[in-house]
Amino acid sequence: MWQVIPWFLLSTVLGETNARPNIVILMADDLGSGDVGFNGNTTIGTTNIDQLATEGVILDQHIAPASVCTPSRAAFLTGRLPIRYGIAANATRVRVNIWNATPNGLPRSELTFAKVLQREGYKTALVGKWHLGMNNENNHDQHYHPYNHGFDSWFGIPLTNIRNCADDGGSVLVPGGQYVLDGLRLASAFFFLLLLSLNALGFLPWSLTRIIIVGSIPNLGGILFQVGFHYTMRFSSCQLWKDRTVIEAPYSLDNMTQRLVNEAEIFLDSAAASDAPFLLMLNFLHVHTPLFSSPEFRGKSVHGRYGDNVLELDWAVGAVREKLAALGLAENTIVYFSTDQAAHNEEISASQERHGGYNIYRGGKGMGGFEGGIRVPAVISYPRENWEGGWRLKQATSMMDIYPTILSQAKVSPSLFAQNEAGEENALDGRDISALLNEGAKEIPTVPSPHEFMFHYCGDNLNAIRWTEPQTGRVWKLHYFQPSWDEGTEGCASILICGCFGPFVTYYDEPLLYSLNEDVMERTTYDSSNLANYTTVVSIMEEGFNNWRSSFTKPPSIYTSFNAIPRPWLQPLCDTFPYLTC
Ligand SMILES: *[C@@H]1O[C@H](CO)[C@@H](O)[C@H](O)[C@H]1NC(C)=O
Ligand SMILES: *[C@@H]1O[C@H](CO)[C@@H](O)[C@H](O)[C@H]1NC(C)=O
Ligand SMILES: *[C@@H]1O[C@H](CO)[C@@H](O)[C@H](O)[C@H]1NC(C)=O
Ligand SMILES: *[C@@H]1O[C@H](CO)[C@@H](O)[C@H](O)[C@H]1NC(C)=O
Repeated sequence: MWQVIPWFLLSTVLGETNARPNIVILMADDLGSGDVGFNGNTTIGTTNIDQLATEGVILDQHIAPASVCTPSRAAFLTGRLPIRYGIAANATRVRVNIWNATPNGLPRSELTFAKVLQREGYKTALVGKWHLGMNNENNHDQHYHPYNHGFDSWFGIPLTNIRNCADDGGSVLVPGGQYVLDGLRLASAFFFLLLLSLNALGFLPWSLTRIIIVGSIPNLGGILFQVGFHYTMRFSSCQLWKDRTVIEAPYSLDNMTQRLVNEAEIFLDSAAASDAPFLLMLNFLHVHTPLFSSPEFRGKSVHGRYGDNVLELDWAVGAVREKLAALGLAENTIVYFSTDQAAHNEEISASQERHGGYNIYRGGKGMGGFEGGIRVPAVISYPRENWEGGWRLKQATSMMDIYPTILSQAKVSPSLFAQNEAGEENALDGRDISALLNEGAKEIPTVPSPHEFMFHYCGDNLNAIRWTEPQTGRVWKLHYFQPSWDEGTEGCASILICGCFGPFVTYYDEPLLYSLNEDVMERTTYDSSNLANYTTVVSIMEEGFNNWRSSFTKPPSIYTSFNAIPRPWLQPLCDTFPYLTC
């Protein structure tokens, strides 16, 4: 073929094939492994996501670095486990940013893949959720802004979509939402009215009335706190930003997905007009609660509002891919689709409708050890490299692998990301999985998982270790603790999400060992009495962990109880009066 190409065209042809790939990241929130057609869901109708899966590689044992948003997203962008840079809560229940006005965020010393690509001449855009912090010392330093982590432009939300952000009165503190809030207000008004009437009618002496009123103050305080929290949250934490400015607060969820897609398309148009390769990271608000969808998707799914949200997410994936195709960019673009962690089982609406997705495996969001919390649906496609569409890569891979993998595809020398922004070693936990992806579907894979060990944290507590036996490919998992579930359930609905320490977990003196090849549901444990080599397996796993863990010093966690308190002086505001809304 080469002989027939005139010499003067040769350089263009070579230039084309050597062109660095564009990169599109499509990141859902709280999506379950069982919510997509390519993992066997027959009723949900994710046709666009499934189409991507038939053209790309399905990452079957794809593991999120954490079971909640902020640490997982931090690890995805840095290729490093959050324990290395303090985004790992120690003995506090708050493991993510829940206010805009806390001093927590992704440390500036970390080097994201966005920043590496930006330095290498890529145009970079973030559309959608950030959740990695904003201000640090005052309300306009924007210390943790996406601009400081490698993005040229941003349209989206600094935090996460939370129930308080919907205009239906829902709240993360009072899961029943509007009903509960209204009920509390009504009940307290009624209670005091009754008390005062009884007093006025002479049935209740003033001395007793007074005692009851004073005695009720703590409960009243609770009610005021709930109501106050709701409104404070709504105005402080539900902001929509464009670049460096708050443009809408509280934001409207009407057509939010369409707005995100629209911004992504605007970016793709401008990127197509430029010679530079690009990185687009589109972080959806779907399918985290509060659930919302545009009129087109309401009531369209057989799985209620949750299903409608999945359908809208699927539409958005299709829309972005169509745009890539229309601009002639599809061939040379790597598309990665996944979710920051698995579905949130405890999400049940006030009317008892399931608002969380379906994890094929045991457990869910918040649980750092069980597959159900961390094994996520994922696809990666690169038409030009022909990563032989439609097969299932079974070996363990991590979301953190995307960092070195896309950089290697972009021909960025590892020496260019060997050091972090502070000039220290940038030791990655992610691995380049290009060799696995290049291998194609093989009965017996010849390339082993680059992760002999994986370490699964819950906050800053080591929850479980995964070991792929190099000779056999057999996958073992060792649990040090498991969540203390609500009686008779496998969830923590009473506290909305399972915790990681103390009273929220059950520790095992003899850690629980599972063999995932036979028991991917993690139901049957091996112990020293039913597996002759329990001790050997466990000691290999612990040695693997100790070797890794002794290679770095753990900095203090940024998630202290004190840091969970919002500081008014860090609160970002709208540019115009009345500042809290715009
Ligand atoms: C983390 O919390 C545990 C209690 O669960 C405590 O013993 C330990 O000292 C804490 N570590 C750090 C570094 O704060
Ligand atoms: C949302 O999009 C629909 C069309 O799908 C349109 O009819 C409606 O006016 C839009 N709503 C807002 C608030 O923009
Ligand atoms: C498909 O997803 C929905 C929504 O999470 C879930 O209720 C249903 O059980 C799933 N179906 C299958 C066959 O996995
Ligand atoms: C466990 O025991 C089996 C049977 O004796 C042996 O084949 C295997 O290599 C052992 N595995 C380890 C990790 O020691």
